[in-house]
Amino acid sequence: MSISTPLQARITAIGSYVPAHILSNADLQGMVDTNDEWIVQRTGIKERRIAAANEFTSHLCIAAVQNMLTRYPSSLDDVELIIVATHTPDLPSTPVACQIQAHFCIPETGAYDLNATCAGFTYALHTASGLVAAGVHSKVLVVGGDSMSKITDYTDRSTCILFGDGAGAVLVEREEERPAFLAHHLGSDGSGGKHVYRTGLSSNLNGIPLAGEGKLVQNGREVYKFAVTTVPQGIEKLLMKSGLPHTTIDWFIPHSANLRIIESISEKCGIAFEKALYSLEYYGNTSAASIPLSLDLGIKEGKVRSGDTLLLYGFGGGLTHSGLIVRWG
Ligand code: ACO
Repeated sequence: MSISTPLQARITAIGSYVPAHILSNADLQGMVDTNDEWIVQRTGIKERRIAAANEFTSHLCIAAVQNMLTRYPSSLDDVELIIVATHTPDLPSTPVACQIQAHFCIPETGAYDLNATCAGFTYALHTASGLVAAGVHSKVLVVGGDSMSKITDYTDRSTCILFGDGAGAVLVEREEERPAFLAHHLGSDGSGGKHVYRTGLSSNLNGIPLAGEGKLVQNGREVYKFAVTTVPQGIEKLLMKSGLPHTTIDWFIPHSANLRIIESISEKCGIAFEKALYSLEYYGNTSAASIPLSLDLGIKEGKVRSGDTLLLYGFGGGLTHSGLIVRWG
């Protein structure tokens, strides 16, 4: 496998948002047959944030972009493209990206949503960095946001303990001096789509009748197996493409699905678990928002510094997976 040429693009700003309402393990104990000890031991999750009844993915994403604008001296006026990674748009036929365009009155921009479920943010970064490096666009707004609580079945103890709501936003801009996107890798396995899905216009997938009526259904063990086998293989390919040994990774930022999944992937890849950044402890699995939320927590806690090498890896429904090695700041 040949070594990738770094892409002349860089992340120049980040922001994030989670709703105010907290759903704790103790709260869930009153809703389904579960308990704090089981949830913490099996997942590492203690709390999640839940959007209000009238708060949807567009509101979460707009709040994340607003948060970015308050922290970085960036203008959105010259954004040429908005990509929102989500699989829970407010309305099925209105991209959340267009709602962001309207809210911030961005004058001349393309806008679309991308659905690669929990791998959506890394897929969107892959697309944005490629377009910027190719000179097609000079500034792209990438947002990952999901309102998982709106599609969660709160009578199913094997799924409702996992999910929370949130959003994260970054700007990707042209950078010739210090190219920051060092390597990409992505993949999919549609034959595994039956392991985690939500019915929509159809309740049939490749001839298999599906249950759940619009709520997320998963075979947790199969998703777990997929994550702990496919992601380490993907990381190995990503590192080979970058030409970097795993010891040069300062921070590993996988999709925050389950702490045991992160521990297993870290061990298989020889990346010290202490280098993993995750947002699941207090936010749960926030799907497309989880990686930017984890990165932003790492920045706020003073862990992630300018020049650090980050390995981001998303995985989720589809099945999909995607990773990038990125230099920060
Ligand atoms: N509380 C108490 N007991 C529970 C709970 C609960 N919340 N949920 C399941 N159990 C029970 C099961 O019924 C089972 O009991 P049994 O042995 O009597 O049959 C036992 O606990 C073990 O069940 P498992 O499913 O084997 O538990 P596991 O250790 O695999 O943990 C979990 C389940 C947490 C769902 C895990 O499999 C997981 O995290 N999988 C990955 C899920 C994931 O990442 N999904 C995101 C998909 S990405 C996207 O695109 C949205």
